[in-house]
Amino acid sequence: MNIVYLNGEFMPIEKACVSVTDRGFLFGDGVYEVIPAYGGRLLRLPHHLQRLQDSLDGIALSNPLSESEWAQTLETLLARNRDNAGVNNDQSVYLQVTRGTAKKRDHAFPTEIHHTVYACSNPIPEPDPAVERNGVAAITLDDIRWAWCNIKAITLLPNVLLRQQAGERGAVEAILIRKGCAIEASSSNIFIVQDDMVITPPKSPQMLPGITRDLVLELAKQHGISYREDNISEDMLHDADEVWITSSTREIVPVTQLDDKAVGNGLPGPVWKTMLSYYREYKDAVRRGEAD
Ligand code: PDD
Repeated sequence: MNIVYLNGEFMPIEKACVSVTDRGFLFGDGVYEVIPAYGGRLLRLPHHLQRLQDSLDGIALSNPLSESEWAQTLETLLARNRDNAGVNNDQSVYLQVTRGTAKKRDHAFPTEIHHTVYACSNPIPEPDPAVERNGVAAITLDDIRWAWCNIKAITLLPNVLLRQQAGERGAVEAILIRKGCAIEASSSNIFIVQDDMVITPPKSPQMLPGITRDLVLELAKQHGISYREDNISEDMLHDADEVWITSSTREIVPVTQLDDKAVGNGLPGPVWKTMLSYYREYKDAVRRGEAD
């Protein structure tokens, strides 16, 4: 049975209901997080909770739970769904906080706030060997999103439309171009490798500050892989030896076809392979409780 958390209670997903007057439903007025857990241990929980706080601050909404309440809630959720999570007990948690319900539909904030707080967890599927062997396809599209993409807002319509276009063209992701530079993808951050140098765009309000992105940079530093945070022009993207996308649910995925052309030699590259092995080591350390 899939158990979810809604406003202080755990319940089967079929029982979880939210009002049609919820501002998340009416306006997309809320924020969310996605947090992977390996062996039942949440990866980088403090980082995710800090980003949640930043997103809440970004939309002027108070945090309904303290850090320890969040930790306790999410750990209970993982435990309640342990039976569905396979031998490794790898799950990803989705949580969202909205500005709740109001008596009537009004763009302005209600005077009294009753947050809606929802969380669920799902098993993380085993990595697909075909993806690791062949990589994936991506396309480039104009970034049609708003100016505050650093806020992890539930209002994801542009991302949804962009991702859909990618799918219709046989690709798994849309890499988004703004003012001639690749910013990130519709639901992941991007990296390129050029002459053994790993490059990812610097943080800005135009992109989500990915927790996986930061971890990849941390691992690069720790293991002596050259990297820099720098703008990636469209030309650099198309001429790169390797292109990767990263996210909490995808980890690090090699893009081997970009706009119907091979990236490098069209196969996952050596720097990606090395980085993935460090990432996997890190995940195992999380499982053993030796890293967060
Ligand atoms: N998406 N950029 C965007 C626009 C994203 O939606 C995501 C994650 C990322 C990667 O962030 P992180 O490494 O912290 O997962 C970058 C999540 C997984 C989602 O919307 O489901």
